[in-house]
Amino acid sequence: MTEPVRCLHIEHKASLKARVFDTLSGVVPQNAPVQSLIQVHSWEQAREWLALSMPWASQSATGATLQGAACEPLLLVCADPLSDATALDVITHLSSLLGQDTTTMTMGQGAVAVLVVSETLTTQREEQLLRSGAFDCLSPQQLHRLRPSAARALALCHAQQRALLADQDRAVTGQRLAELTEHLQASIEQERAAIAREIHDDIGGALAAVKFDLAWVSRHSTDPAMLAHASAASEMVQHALGASQRIMMNLRPAILDQGLVASVQWLAAGFERRTGVRATVRASSDTIDTPRDVAMVAYRTAQEAMTNISKYAHCTQVRIELTDTEGVLTLEISDNGCGMASADLHKPKAFGIKGLTERARTVGGWLDVGSQPGRGTAITLSVPLSRRAAPEAST
Ligand SMILES: Nc1ncnc2c1ncn2[C@@H]1O[C@H](COP(=O)(O)OP(=O)(O)OP(=O)(O)O)[C@@H](O)[C@H]1O
Ligand SMILES: [Mg+2]
Repeated sequence: MTEPVRCLHIEHKASLKARVFDTLSGVVPQNAPVQSLIQVHSWEQAREWLALSMPWASQSATGATLQGAACEPLLLVCADPLSDATALDVITHLSSLLGQDTTTMTMGQGAVAVLVVSETLTTQREEQLLRSGAFDCLSPQQLHRLRPSAARALALCHAQQRALLADQDRAVTGQRLAELTEHLQASIEQERAAIAREIHDDIGGALAAVKFDLAWVSRHSTDPAMLAHASAASEMVQHALGASQRIMMNLRPAILDQGLVASVQWLAAGFERRTGVRATVRASSDTIDTPRDVAMVAYRTAQEAMTNISKYAHCTQVRIELTDTEGVLTLEISDNGCGMASADLHKPKAFGIKGLTERARTVGGWLDVGSQPGRGTAITLSVPLSRRAAPEAST
């Protein structure tokens, strides 16, 4: 055994002290520090040692200090009864220190394993101790089992700790990813808004000026060729103005200023115009108040869902439902098209739906995708609104 371990033996009877201690010295690693194997004669002494040596047993320990590799497993070998307590008292005390409230480590399974060595062990007492969290109970005649039992207990402790650390690592990584996604989404929207402003001020301004100049030329010229060229140029400018407005609208949907319902209706109307597929919008009321970031997430969800429908669904009907009942905003976009297989969601180069899922999380919501091949697809965004403070418009 090479992994770090602490071993505490509580025994007041001289006859058992040396025998148990000798056996335990084979359990701790050979090069372990001296304080890895400690023998005390009372529960009071044991508590003092615990408070000094094990971070989770100190009064000032917080949940945070209990997490992680700092808590090396403790093998506690305890006589029953002790001079000042019983093994059950010891287990109960340790359970309260390592309770679910502070850590997921549990008696006999995580940071602490308790082995009881008792001269007065009865079947009933053994059952009681095991039920309370003892890892094993031995009589002095069974001391040959102490070493293998201790090794098993420690192996289990180490495995539990590794699993716990892996869980903590995963949770931290997940949290970092969520924060990064939120930051990226916010940056993307800010960047889009900045580009939209540039297009509006620079390109839009220049095109409007050209349009006025062309109108001036048309008014002041009688040359038919000149008038024809001015008219054609004017048409091109008008086309470019329309295109720049469309681009601006995609980059920073100004329609959101008119509310989520109006925005979704506008998206549906554009979809119908482009695809010829009927898209109906049903909303629980004419206006649904949401914080700006939630409205943006809902808008982008509807936008991507409709883009997907026009690319893949081959449908004849699209339905969009928008409700804010019971403090939850729900947006469902469904089609009656070819549907998809669940594997489609995991295509390596498909980021639309994955992005929507992440977007939903950034506002405390979630995304459901329901689909079966041949039976259409429904994308549902749900965002609880009740406990959110409405933030300022950011874009
Ligand atoms: N409404 C739909 N009907 C049928 N299939 C769909 C529908 N929406 C999505 N899919 C399938 O799910 C896949 C994943 O969609 P997703 O939006 O995540 O990626 P994508 O559209 O392929 O690529 P990206 O959005 O990154 O440009 C699509 O490739 C398509 O096969
Ligand atoms: Mg897509």
